[in-house]
Amino acid sequence: MCEPSSEFELVALKNGGSSLRWLGNGETFHPVVGPMSEARTLHVDQQRLVERARCRSESLVVWDVGLGAAANALAVVEAFAGREEEGGGWVDLHSFDRSAAPLGFALEHEEELGYLGGYRAVLEELLESAGPFPSARLVHTGRVRWWFHVGDFEELVKSAELPAPDAVLYDPYSVAGNRGMWTLEHLRRVRAQLREDKPCLLSNYTRSTSVRVTLLLAGFYVGLGQGVGEKDQTTVASNVPGLLERPLGREWLKRVRASTRGAPLRAGEAEVGAIGASDWESLEAHPQWR
Ligand SMILES: C[S@@+](CC[C@H](N)C(=O)[O-])C[C@H]1O[C@@H](n2cnc3c(N)ncnc32)[C@H](O)[C@@H]1O
Repeated sequence: MCEPSSEFELVALKNGGSSLRWLGNGETFHPVVGPMSEARTLHVDQQRLVERARCRSESLVVWDVGLGAAANALAVVEAFAGREEEGGGWVDLHSFDRSAAPLGFALEHEEELGYLGGYRAVLEELLESAGPFPSARLVHTGRVRWWFHVGDFEELVKSAELPAPDAVLYDPYSVAGNRGMWTLEHLRRVRAQLREDKPCLLSNYTRSTSVRVTLLLAGFYVGLGQGVGEKDQTTVASNVPGLLERPLGREWLKRVRASTRGAPLRAGEAEVGAIGASDWESLEAHPQWR
């Protein structure tokens, strides 16, 4: 799917900053606190990327799902700038997007957005190097080796060659705006790409009960994520319970039981209802509650 630049517009945020909106679904990127502030709080700091990259023999692999206008990715680049001597090796940043148009639009509006300026050269190189996985060419910036894979992540995630991530910055719009990226079938494929001996954390803006149920049934452990702007909490998920600072507890199951929208999201089902008996049984049997 290709989104020409004219499908985006600039939006003035409450905090005085600017962001982008895709007219295709009306969703604004980083709507409240602005692109870089959200990227740092929700992804880079919460993921403890700098700390986790220290003292390791293999590179830290970060999946940036939904490169968009590159705020999350640049927050990663920024976090590692000047840390070349710290030890701990490379940071391998794999950005995915079905289109380069949001980044192109953002570069055209660099001044209004305010966070791309110092990175124009590397972003232009990234755009030139972009290609379908795995043929995108590598761009170096400090300790970060950066690839931009252009394609539908729902398809790309099926590849056996994807490097298993330590961190997934999951930012593909909301369920309402992009259901396919939130279904049980898709999230099971994402979970299957994680290596059992490699703890991985996925961070996202949602706080939806239905999405949390879907992540749990896809095989993730799920916890409360850092609040951001007007949201008092978001969501994190992992293949190991130890990476979650605030795992959901058994008492949260009561909320699922009581919810009229507690069912997991499945492909081909437009509406989410209350959770059914067999999903409830699977949810109760999840190792998270042991
Ligand atoms: C909210 S924006 C991401 C904002 C971005 N992380 C940033 O920091 O500017 C969502 C992005 O996800 C991309 N996207 C949505 N569904 C996708 C899919 N199935 N495959 C690849 N990219 C997708 C969209 O093209 C869009 O650029």
